[in-house]
Amino acid sequence: MAEELIAFASKQEMLAKSKQFWNPDKTQFWIDSGVPLVIDRREGYYIYDVEGKRLIDVHLNGGTYNLGHRNPEVVAAVTAAMQRFDIGNHHFPSLARTALAEALVKTAPGAPERAPQGGFGGMGLPDPGGSPGGSSPRGLTKVMYGSGGGEAVDIALKSARHATKKRRIVSVAKAYHGHTGLAVAAGDERFATLFLADRPEEFSHVPFNDLAAMEAALRGRDVAAVIMETIPATYGFPLPAPGYLAGVKKLCERFGALYIADEVQTGLMRTGELWAISKHGVTPDILVSGKGISGGMYPVSVVLATESAAGWLTEDGFAHMSTFGGAELGCVAALKTLEITCRPEVRSMVHYIADVFTTGLSRIQAQYPDWFTGIRQDGLVMGLEFGHPQGAKFVMKRLYENGVWAIFSTLDPGVLQYKPGILLTPSLCEELLERTEVAIGKARDDVARGVRR
Ligand SMILES: Cc1ncc(COP(=O)(O)O)c(C=O)c1O
Repeated sequence: MAEELIAFASKQEMLAKSKQFWNPDKTQFWIDSGVPLVIDRREGYYIYDVEGKRLIDVHLNGGTYNLGHRNPEVVAAVTAAMQRFDIGNHHFPSLARTALAEALVKTAPGAPERAPQGGFGGMGLPDPGGSPGGSSPRGLTKVMYGSGGGEAVDIALKSARHATKKRRIVSVAKAYHGHTGLAVAAGDERFATLFLADRPEEFSHVPFNDLAAMEAALRGRDVAAVIMETIPATYGFPLPAPGYLAGVKKLCERFGALYIADEVQTGLMRTGELWAISKHGVTPDILVSGKGISGGMYPVSVVLATESAAGWLTEDGFAHMSTFGGAELGCVAALKTLEITCRPEVRSMVHYIADVFTTGLSRIQAQYPDWFTGIRQDGLVMGLEFGHPQGAKFVMKRLYENGVWAIFSTLDPGVLQYKPGILLTPSLCEELLERTEVAIGKARDDVARGVRR
């Protein structure tokens, strides 16, 4: 039994061993932050600490648990698949990998084919609906696989360099694309410099929402790709200004760079559309998804690309390899996740729940206008702004005490990431809002009393 393999006498012993054998700094950070969480059981949108404390999960590990923890339909699909498949052999054509690739292409932004009535192929996927389309007439027609978001971003950047024969990459200051080789260089310097992984001559960072800075970075025509989170998550979900992303895409077209949409956190219906970039009228040249596509059950990440951006696949199909990339059990989890996510009733519920939060959070904000200073929201992607540079850490602690797990934004701790699941029930929304209201009030008192964080 798994329990016997992982048993500890007490939480204190477990935390001590975590510091000794796993990650001393991170373990101590959570203890010092007042969030000594060791997650044990998990079910739906609830997680339970090893000492039994129940928390509503509004972090969802960046959307990994969009469908809840251990979603019964995903568990059933993976369990059934395990009777027949395992990770598979990455060198060979595979039933699961091909089926997922076809489903992703048919649901991609700007997909040329619309699903026939009654669903896609044999998978019963309904038509995800309205993608406004874009400049690439044939859309995203090829799929490449990784096992995590960072690997997928690396694949995207490598593909762009191959397609354009250019080396430079432009991203946004305070961006976060993962910690693998190229992805970490594209993100905020905090994580790149520690490992001497920054490459300033190849990777440029421009301020978010600044088209003039983007134009200046691209004007030399030596840029392979601009990579953009559709809403920068780790920076606290600042919303793109109207027309900004479409403007970036136009600049890319003008100066011969590809547009890579990192939808690791914003995709999969979190904004009320399957892919958030569709809402901006942009069909990217490359789109990256991870986290939630796994159904929270088996790691997998995907890169969708146009024929020309994925040109290396016809030139040398062995050029990128990954033993676990596109693992077959992960592909089955992803197929089921995509099918659930594309159900019309799920989309309607996301719109409904988003409205519940707009109303509820505005009501709370009206009570504390000097403390709870702003709400950034696109569907169920939300950043709550507080009037103290570390404000979200105070709120996180009080939420934890009050049965809710939500995390501060690493690159802007004044903003709380607030990411409810897409299958949340109306009653759980109400409970969450009530708990949030209490925690925000208590955190304000902490700040007023000068409590240190
Ligand atoms: C927008 C974005 N891109 C990429 C990644 C990297 O994903 P992973 O941690 O699976 O490598 C993350 C992870 O948080 C992310 O938020």
